[in-house]
Amino acid sequence: MSKSFGALRAIRDLSFSLGSGEILGIAGPNGSGKSTLFNILTRIPFGPDRGEMSLDGQSLDRSSPRQIVQAGLARTFQTETDFETLTVLENLLVSMPDGDFRDGRQAAETHAMELLASVDLQGQGDRIASEITVYDRKKLMIATALASRPKVLLLDEPAAGLSRPEVAEMIELIRRINAGGVSIVVIEHIISLLVSVSNRLLVLNFGEMLCEGTPQDVIRDRRVIEAYLGSAAAHV
Ligand SMILES: Nc1ncnc2c1ncn2[C@@H]1O[C@H](COP(=O)(O)OP(=O)(O)OP(=O)(O)O)[C@@H](O)[C@H]1O
Ligand SMILES: [Mg+2]
Repeated sequence: MSKSFGALRAIRDLSFSLGSGEILGIAGPNGSGKSTLFNILTRIPFGPDRGEMSLDGQSLDRSSPRQIVQAGLARTFQTETDFETLTVLENLLVSMPDGDFRDGRQAAETHAMELLASVDLQGQGDRIASEITVYDRKKLMIATALASRPKVLLLDEPAAGLSRPEVAEMIELIRRINAGGVSIVVIEHIISLLVSVSNRLLVLNFGEMLCEGTPQDVIRDRRVIEAYLGSAAAHV
């Protein structure tokens, strides 16, 4: 896939695959195109200039953002995107597919509360979203993505701004979601998180793939250390 903004080539002929059940980590310097990659994969808010994508053999090249979600690809965003004035439970309800309301509001709320419990937000349903912690808002955003029952979950910096104990909990949460059968692509600057959860690591630089491989090999790669890890070492 490729995506330019004027003269800036944010994603340059990038090609990669994700195995079923896999956790793929994506690292790279600020501005290297990581979030743009999630944007063009989901078409939220824009698709690629050119490129192809398929999920389970089904081409998504002509799909709308909604059809892409329905096909099984869901994402979170780098900054919180919840509805601040709604409660945590209401945020879940507005993100659930129509089919979840077939059996009435009560059944839908029960399902919403199960989703909240799956990200350890049980008991928080009645709180206004703007009043919960950054960590809880990140988990709420993950729960709203899980509401569409994705096959693939794209997480854009799920641990940015979290404390060390919270990062450790986020690692457990990512593993738990993956153990439930969801393949995951996770963008992070916190290299320790990427090394803990990823089966494979991909490093972007200027919109191109700088390096791809096992986390242990990638973090020792000289090109990765020179282009990125030198400056990111403080995050580890
Ligand atoms: N909508 C846009 N319009 C113009 N330029 C954009 C737009 N979105 C991203 N860019 C530019 O594209 C490049 C890649 O940005 P992107 O947000 O994908 O980087 P990133 O790797 O996610 O960075 P970070 O680690 O800081 O989140 C940057 O130079 C950015 O300024
Ligand atoms: Mg980004």
